[in-house]
Amino acid sequence: MENQAQERKKIIFSGIQPSGQITLGNYLGAVRNWTQLQEEYRCIYSIVNMHAITVRQDPAQLRQRTLEAYALILACGIDPEKSIAFIQSHVKEHAEANWALACYTQFGELSRMTQFKDKSAKNPDNINAGLFTYPVLMAGDILLYQTDLVPVGLDQKQHLELARDVAIRFNGQHGNTFVVPDGYFPKVGAKIASLQDPTKKMSKSDPNPRGCVYILDPPETILKKFKSAVTDSEAQVAYREGKDGINNLMTIYSCVTGETFEQIEKDFSGKGYGDFKAAVGQAVADHLAPIRDQYARLMADKAYLESCYRAGAQKASRIAGRTLEKVYKKIGFLPQ
Ligand code: TRP
Repeated sequence: MENQAQERKKIIFSGIQPSGQITLGNYLGAVRNWTQLQEEYRCIYSIVNMHAITVRQDPAQLRQRTLEAYALILACGIDPEKSIAFIQSHVKEHAEANWALACYTQFGELSRMTQFKDKSAKNPDNINAGLFTYPVLMAGDILLYQTDLVPVGLDQKQHLELARDVAIRFNGQHGNTFVVPDGYFPKVGAKIASLQDPTKKMSKSDPNPRGCVYILDPPETILKKFKSAVTDSEAQVAYREGKDGINNLMTIYSCVTGETFEQIEKDFSGKGYGDFKAAVGQAVADHLAPIRDQYARLMADKAYLESCYRAGAQKASRIAGRTLEKVYKKIGFLPQ
């Protein structure tokens, strides 16, 4: 028994919204870690298109972006044989869990969510109920799979806390039903900043388009963006407080080449920032080239993509269905 428990691989769940292109920041901060977790854990990854409609979406574009996001996580190295990769709306249990769990979540708890407050301030003409209950849907995503660990960025920590609270509350009322998930924060958290304003997170909404690198950017674009990266006037490649621009470039370089900061400082001592920026740009372009190629191959083979997301949804639904059945029984829904 004990052995069996030890051998059970821990379950990881994470989701990414199909909101346009994946940035270098998303990739180094999240998606790349997802691929590295596949050996050690039972990984389940979802393109969360149901979360996406809490803000207005153009239907054709949402469809396209969902497929692109799915292809992109495979291109980054999510292996659909090793992990479960699926599209959220294909697994009906998510919508059902959302309702059940909403009845175990307090209005006051949801009112305190900072993302809700931020997003409603940004979209004052569309503060819909889905935006408000977004964290409940997310709790369902996580809890349906009896997830042990959830790799998320700091911006999602509060939502994860809520998922834990809901799980604990439900378990408390009905007996053990859900695994209470923990956050998974990688040891070396790669937080990538804007190339134009290195005090800010790299983001699609950067006012300067050169601040944000996309993983599908062609090599020339990548080189150009890095060449125009903001640095400082010291002309010394060293990781130190106050050198946000250089620190950011060193982090990126280290992530894609595996070199330590000391090695980098040694390799570039006596060289100018121009050389360093060119080297970082080239290293990023080289690192991303195979992903870009694989993405193009996948997008040219829709039938293969379809077979992957269908199989993924089937596998996900089997697990989610078991949990939901338990939940319905405990709540007191009359079985069919
Ligand atoms: N809300 C997350 C984000 O915007 C995406 C997400 C949805 C998610 N469901 C999840 C992340 C479940 C982790 C686990 O980044």
